[in-house]
Amino acid sequence: MYRNYKLNELRMENIGEEVTLSGWISKVRDLGHFVFIDLRDRYGITQILLNEEVSGSELFEEARKYKNEWVLKVTGVVAERSSKNKNIPTGDIEIEAKKIEVLSRAKQLPFEISETGNLSENMRLTYRYLDIRRPKMLNNIIKRNDMLFSIRKFMNKNGFLDVDTPILAKATPEGARDFIVPSRTNKGDFYALPQSPQLFKQILMVSGIDKYYQLAKCFRDEDLRADRQPEFTQLDVEMSFVEQEDVISMAEELTKTVFKDVTGIEITEKFLRMSYDDAMNFYGSDKPDLRFDMKLIDLSEETADCGFGVFENALKDGGNVKAIVAPNAEKFSRKYIKDLEDYVKTYFKAKGLAYIKVNENGEINSPIAKFFSEEKLTQIIEKLGIKNNEVALILADKYKVVHDGLGALRLKLGEELELIDKNAFKFLWVVDFPMFEWSEEENRYKAQHHPFTSIKEEDRKYLDTNELAKIKTDSYDIVLNGYEIGGGSIRIHDEDLQAKVFEKLGFSQEELEDKFGFFLEVLKYGVPPHGGLAYGIDRWLMAMLKEDSIKEVIPFPKTNKGQDLMIGAPAGIEEQVLEDDLRLKLLEVEKED
Ligand code: AMO
Ligand code: AMP
Repeated sequence: MYRNYKLNELRMENIGEEVTLSGWISKVRDLGHFVFIDLRDRYGITQILLNEEVSGSELFEEARKYKNEWVLKVTGVVAERSSKNKNIPTGDIEIEAKKIEVLSRAKQLPFEISETGNLSENMRLTYRYLDIRRPKMLNNIIKRNDMLFSIRKFMNKNGFLDVDTPILAKATPEGARDFIVPSRTNKGDFYALPQSPQLFKQILMVSGIDKYYQLAKCFRDEDLRADRQPEFTQLDVEMSFVEQEDVISMAEELTKTVFKDVTGIEITEKFLRMSYDDAMNFYGSDKPDLRFDMKLIDLSEETADCGFGVFENALKDGGNVKAIVAPNAEKFSRKYIKDLEDYVKTYFKAKGLAYIKVNENGEINSPIAKFFSEEKLTQIIEKLGIKNNEVALILADKYKVVHDGLGALRLKLGEELELIDKNAFKFLWVVDFPMFEWSEEENRYKAQHHPFTSIKEEDRKYLDTNELAKIKTDSYDIVLNGYEIGGGSIRIHDEDLQAKVFEKLGFSQEELEDKFGFFLEVLKYGVPPHGGLAYGIDRWLMAMLKEDSIKEVIPFPKTNKGQDLMIGAPAGIEEQVLEDDLRLKLLEVEKED
């Protein structure tokens, strides 16, 4: 027997009991006549006491050589502590050790488990097993379990069936790059790892499954960021005979239940709703962070013939002139404004960043004021609602540059001026996304969500016009504190409409047949109206735990280059496997590092 108590369990009631405990050494203190050991497991810490009297001199001398993170089995008697530790539940007692077995030794650690400062990510991911011994990571893993358990309970109680779908699959329509797996038994052919179970879950609706869910691994070969991993987990859901409101109300109840189970906080009010158009127009984002205000202000009326060519021309070319107003004008030195300007120029291709700064005493400082008549300037200032000690930052350009640029600037200022209420949790539904999005690079329309999204009844008339951009869908994203934690839609269940959408997306008949032919066939066999959504489990948990990176809530994440530093993946492969089994040949590759 290794243990009859865990390391958070013993109390004053146990005094006098002989117990056996196992765990890792968290700390050894040698005080000359005494040795104290903090023994740690997943549950807590219990203090072990050794001295010559109770432990015998041999064991006592041995214990002086113990090092952190060795694994021990300790047998001893529970005793009252002379100096109690109120910070831990076992702080009233200690174990007078009679026998200790060293179960495993540990070599010098690359970092201390108790280290709470910033360790390098490389170090943490290379030694993830040690990182998980640290209280914060352990807590996040426990929270992840609480979340998944809460989800399963809710889904099961509400009649959803957990159905799993293949990982070795075929290209799916989420629009990222696929991870490809060569087939040995079908030489020259490839599987694609699923970007989501989208088509399978729709097929399950055709099969009559009616209410489906799955905690599904998804794979997307995209450039990685703080909230993106190449491999992530979705709570994937699909329902038959539902309209948008049915899905939203189920999802809202689920979201609140899981939120309560993970954070302990009960949310009673209904989530806010905002159309995609409003989100973009007022926040420059399809996932606005509502923990602070700072809406985009439209200056097109005031600047249409204001005398400043840059603004007038942007409007004439069909673009926009918009602004955000920030407090703490004293922080906006020339240098700070220049940095902000460089930021929107570099990342959003803005041509400049105009500003109007009003000092504490009402004095106006602006490089563009000289272009305006006094009356114009007054109009602009009135529209901005700018007060003393505030700054307006103004962009004039195409819609995308202005909105993406100001949207990002808004978030940057929110952080840097500390305007964000870090204790708040702001949930929001963003609805009515457009079906089609013009791609400048590819010079064609792409699906904003995916091509199976149902088009609003009243917008179908635009399908045969050149006003595809006007078409809105029955779609919804759930946003928490500026993160898109999930999204979905009602689906097209009509074969002809589906074929038409594919046509508008520019698929050739051949491409269509090859990629989605099987699915168009499915749509011929009795399809219930259906819809659903998928949550990004990792992002959702990250937002609930207020972590800045998705890596903090994934047990074994990859670096931003997509590497697993612990196991050393991805890795090369023997030529024989490649050439004999798979009939593949590598082109020359230049290895980095
Ligand atoms: P979507 O592509 O919006 O929809 O994905 C759903 C949710 O998954 C999360 N997510 C990610 N999380 C981490 N890393 C990534 N690379 C990543 N990509 C997406 C996001 C997102 O909201 N099949 C549809 C859903 C549906 O229509 O039902 C889909 O996959 O939180
Ligand atoms: P200029 O007269 O070119 O020096 O520009 C005057 C101010 O307008 C500078 O602060 C520029 O950063 C700014 N500016 C230039 N182009 C734009 C633009 N497209 N949108 C907003 N501000 C701009």
